[in-house]
Amino acid sequence: MTIPTPALHAAAERFGTPLYVYDAAELDAALARVRAAFGPARVYYAMKANPNLTLLRRLQAAGVGFECVSPGELARAEAVGASGGQILVNGPAKSGAEYVSGARLGATFIVDREEEVGLLPPHSRALVRVNPALEVSTHDHLATGAAGSKFGVTLVQAPRVLEALRGAGHTALGLHVHIGSAIRDAQDFTAAFGRLAELRAETGPLAVLDAGGGWGLDADLHGIAREAWAAARAFDADLWVEPGRYLVARAGTLLTRVVGHKRTGRNFCLVDAGMTELLRPMLYGAEHPVTALWEGTDCGVWDIAGPACESGDLLARDVSLPTPRRGDLLAIGEAGAYGAAMASTYLSRSRPAEALYEPGAADGTDWTVIRRRETPQDIWAMELGRNR
Ligand SMILES: Cc1ncc(COP(=O)(O)O)c(C=O)c1O
Repeated sequence: MTIPTPALHAAAERFGTPLYVYDAAELDAALARVRAAFGPARVYYAMKANPNLTLLRRLQAAGVGFECVSPGELARAEAVGASGGQILVNGPAKSGAEYVSGARLGATFIVDREEEVGLLPPHSRALVRVNPALEVSTHDHLATGAAGSKFGVTLVQAPRVLEALRGAGHTALGLHVHIGSAIRDAQDFTAAFGRLAELRAETGPLAVLDAGGGWGLDADLHGIAREAWAAARAFDADLWVEPGRYLVARAGTLLTRVVGHKRTGRNFCLVDAGMTELLRPMLYGAEHPVTALWEGTDCGVWDIAGPACESGDLLARDVSLPTPRRGDLLAIGEAGAYGAAMASTYLSRSRPAEALYEPGAADGTDWTVIRRRETPQDIWAMELGRNR
């Protein structure tokens, strides 16, 4: 994140907090790093990480397609003008709606179980998601390629499902694997791609290998790309990838103001954002870098606590900070992925505004609001009893 501190203060002042800010330069840089590592692989952004239309448009303009897992995500892809080969429809329990919109948009389907072969719209293009049955280096809830997880077909079933697709008149493009998110150890990818490549003897050549996403932010992308391409070449296939977090996490920062502090058994820095704005620490024990945007020499160790009446509503623990005062500003980093996307209206809290930082953009200002703050009226607008 390269947004200068005075610009962060200015945005918090102008748009209020809690506030998500995104650095356009870092978004572009992340995509450039992916392209440098993966070369001609086709990139599908897993929009679950952050579905903001402005970000989608920016990625689409750079030639990126979209991986979608719900009717709403497909509607977003359509809203930014994506169609055909630019859209993948994924998910372990697709409803009828995903098949209908996916077919209308000419998308490619990722088949997650054999039964889906009979549910696909006629003459679909499809990949088969394989579960390589591996334990991987991430939080249990983020691991999707373990033997006990609900995703994909087994290595034994995969060739049969490809055959079934062909038999039903679909185009069986190839195989798909995604072993989880925020994976720390690159060896996990090596193992997963290796297990898929062993299927070559049974499947014969394929048009596509989709190597999924899941790369940790500090991952050796070139190493992962080397292994993914080796597996793709084993099938004489093109390589597709589906990064979510890697493309948007570092670009995003959650700005939150200190509302006060207290010292009990622990030191609590109380802020105006919490689990409703950034769920990852509570959901996955995720650790986000925290930066104090105020000066002070009296450093202590603080837990950053949100306003929800939930003991787990902590954004970070044991953070070294100068003593916080009411009104001070904190920056929670690496929050561009699964941050705003997972924000909720629990406690009737309005989801935060989002602003993009792009110095000298079209209108000459550095900031563009790309989502306004929700109001209480937005939240209850769908409730039918309010006028009775
Ligand atoms: C099938 C699939 N592809 C790609 C992704 C993106 O993962 P990440 O954001 O960790 O790159 C996910 C995330 O859950 C996924 O389920």
